[in-house]
Amino acid sequence: MIEVRSVTKRFGKRSRSVEVLHDIDFSVGTGQIAAVIGQSGAGKTTLSRIISLLERPSEGRILLDGTDVSGLSERRLRDQRRAIGTIFQASSLLARRTATENVSLPLEFAGVGRSERRARVEELLERVGLSDKADLYPRQLSGGQRQRVGIARSLALAPKVLVSDEATSGLDPNTTRSILALLRELRDDLGLTIVLITHEMDVVRQVADVVTVLDAGRVVESGPVIELLRDPHSELGVGLLPDRSHITAEDRDVLWHVTYGSDTVPTNWIELLGKATGRSIGVLSGTVESVGGRPAGRVTISVAGEHPSVGELLSSWGLHGTRVDDDASARATEEAAA
Ligand SMILES: Nc1ncnc2c1ncn2[C@@H]1O[C@H](COP(=O)(O)OP(=O)(O)OP(=O)(O)O)[C@@H](O)[C@H]1O
Ligand SMILES: [Mg+2]
Repeated sequence: MIEVRSVTKRFGKRSRSVEVLHDIDFSVGTGQIAAVIGQSGAGKTTLSRIISLLERPSEGRILLDGTDVSGLSERRLRDQRRAIGTIFQASSLLARRTATENVSLPLEFAGVGRSERRARVEELLERVGLSDKADLYPRQLSGGQRQRVGIARSLALAPKVLVSDEATSGLDPNTTRSILALLRELRDDLGLTIVLITHEMDVVRQVADVVTVLDAGRVVESGPVIELLRDPHSELGVGLLPDRSHITAEDRDVLWHVTYGSDTVPTNWIELLGKATGRSIGVLSGTVESVGGRPAGRVTISVAGEHPSVGELLSSWGLHGTRVDDDASARATEEAAA
């Protein structure tokens, strides 16, 4: 488990220092995949370097399985760093070394003997699906394959935590998907805790259990992805399941934004709502997806005419309903989402 506790980071001399991270707090449970998302300049790389123990926080602490690792002496820090594997961008492979030699590097530095090294590297390359590319140089590999070599290298010293800074940026969607699938597999097989630094919403959607949104060095949202998806006020939730509505409702219709709030929402809730209210129900837009095997969705419905118990009925089925009060605001919401 990693805990980031009140981490602040300033660069530069005291009088002219710039605060890049302000009081960051979040934690990632053992075996969880966390995404840290944010725009360029938000402070993601700085945070990833602090979590990887390559940089010290100006204030605050990093706890690894309950132990404060941020204030250690250089020598003790070196030992702790082995517990944290870092996947840098693909370009960080050494061009004059083969895939095997690149993966072998951390083992050489750690003083692992030749035959043990060879066995370990073979196993790592097999794990990332590159046994047949072992003797190729980085320039002979595709972007996705290079990234797999980087992942194998980061696993060389059997870390507990893997931190990746934009490991999938610049890869096409299919390659991204296969890299994310590999990371998920590694988490499942090795019980790794993984922190993915990214600016891509797709990464969050595809693999993250928990997510932290950074904006200008501050945490603006943080929590389990499924909960943010189900929170009608979460901006990230809206971003993950955008509600693209182009249909305008009839004048007498009352619009409701509905989000899924539990695992037990009856699949035919729209039909049930129609029966219970005796009104006809229209679906103006909506996305319902399975996120980590659990249903999540955002749907905009219209109810023909006023009815007093729509909100109650929705919550009795595990849904959150927010009434969109007048047509002007409904249209504004739809335009913003379009
Ligand atoms: N060593 C440094 N000295 C001074 N300022 C720095 C240093 N490292 C980063 N910064 C500043 O910290 C801010 C955040 O940078 P960071 O690289 O963490 O952003 P990022 O979220 O990773 O952005 P991107 O998505 O573009 O990679 C930037 O304004 C940057 O200029
Ligand atoms: Mg960065």
